[in-house]
Parts: sequence; structure tokens; C-alpha cells
Amino acid sequence: MNTTKINVIFHSIHGHIYKLALAEAEGAKSVEGVEVKIYRVPETLSREILEKMKAVESVESFSYLPVADLKTLSEADGLIFGTPTRFGMMTSQMRNYLDSTGSLWSKAILVGKPATVFTSTSTQHGGQEAAILSFHTTLLHHGMILLGLPYVHSEMFEVEKVSGGGPYGASTLTGSDGRRQPSEAELKLAFEQGKYLATIASRLKNK
Ligand SMILES: Cc1cc2nc3c(=O)[nH]c(=O)nc-3n(C[C@H](O)[C@H](O)[C@H](O)COP(=O)(O)O)c2cc1C
Repeated sequence: MNTTKINVIFHSIHGHIYKLALAEAEGAKSVEGVEVKIYRVPETLSREILEKMKAVESVESFSYLPVADLKTLSEADGLIFGTPTRFGMMTSQMRNYLDSTGSLWSKAILVGKPATVFTSTSTQHGGQEAAILSFHTTLLHHGMILLGLPYVHSEMFEVEKVSGGGPYGASTLTGSDGRRQPSEAELKLAFEQGKYLATIASRLKNK
């Protein structure tokens, strides 16, 4: 069996997406023959702005992770992307990173690689599905194979309390003050999404 390489690439300011990224990576690692690495995209905000956002401590907590570059995409057999929602779309930091991939596009380097997306919002109806679906546009232009999160997990049917995660991908909600943290159910769905992506990537690699 060939080793399947899965890279998790995320952007986060307040740490919610970072926590989901760790759960996605654990899920991918749970698949036999899979090697997983986690990368952060380059941060474009200055320290001064991060200080104003009270995000320095949070951003420093995952600064030990390597910064994603073009090789992070080209070397992977499967890709997992995580971004907070900004006005119903990915963050400009993630956009900036993806906009640097023209040379991969022109050589069709990412064609046929499976990919999946997860997100977070502050509010319940703040555009999680829009953020994931609009992210898919870029992945389709690269010829990637889109995966979501199959509707087979009991956590996806929760209606009694606020909970992220749907067929488009895992997600969490932060609350308007950012204090809400990913719940056990949301982390479980992130784990399942990572596992699903890695399972399909491994099947494609070893076909
Ligand atoms: C400029 C900006 C735009 C945002 N747009 C949305 C939005 O459309 N919907 C929403 O619910 N939250 C929105 N938020 C809140 C972020 O999605 C939230 O802070 C993020 O999901 C937290 O993720 P993180 O902890 O990984 O940084 C926005 C925040 C900023 C700064």
C-alpha cells in the first residue's frame, strides 16, 4: 500500500478553525497508510492590528506550525482547507494564498486531487454554507474532486441546540464575543470529515 499524504491548510485568527483543523487531522490520521501534516496560510495582518483584535496570543498558539507554500498543495494526495467566514466567503488571507497558485493551475498540478472545506462563523446564519460553496469555485477551477461530509452522522441531525456541521463540511460557531468554543459534536464531525477525505484519497492513490 502506498502512503497517502494529506495536508490540512487553514487560516485562523481567534483559534476556532485551528481547533477544528486539529480534529480534521486526527480523523485523517485514523485511516491506515495515511500521513498528515498541518499548515497555516501566511498571515497578512500586522501585529498592531492583531493586538487591536486581541488575537496575538491566539495566533502565537499555532505559530509552531509551518506556513503553507505551493509545495504544500502539489505534494499532497488530498487536501483539507479550513477558513473562518468573512461576509459569507473565505478570509482574504486564504484568498491571498490561493491566488498565488496560478503556476499550479497552468500545469494542471492539482487536477484529480480530492479536497474538502470546513469553516466557522460568529452567528448561526452567518453564511457557513456560502463560505464553503464559494470556496469550492476555486477548487473546481483547479480540477479538484470536491468532498463534503456525508449525512450519516447523528450529530448532523441536532435541532435542540445550536450546532455546526452539515453536508457541505464541518463548522463551528463562535458567538458574537468569540467565546463559544467548538463543541464535542462539532469536533467529532471535523474528525469524520478528515477521515472521509483521507479514505477517498487513499482509495484513489491505491487504485
Ligand atoms: C471582517 C469580518 C467579517 C466577518 N464576516 C462574518 C460573516 O459573514 N458571518 C459570521 O457569522 N461571522 C463573520 N465574522 C466572524 C468570523 O467568522 C469569526 O470571527 C471566525 O469564524 C472565528 O474563527 P477563528 O477563531 O478561527 O479566527 C466576520 C469577522 C470579520 C473580522
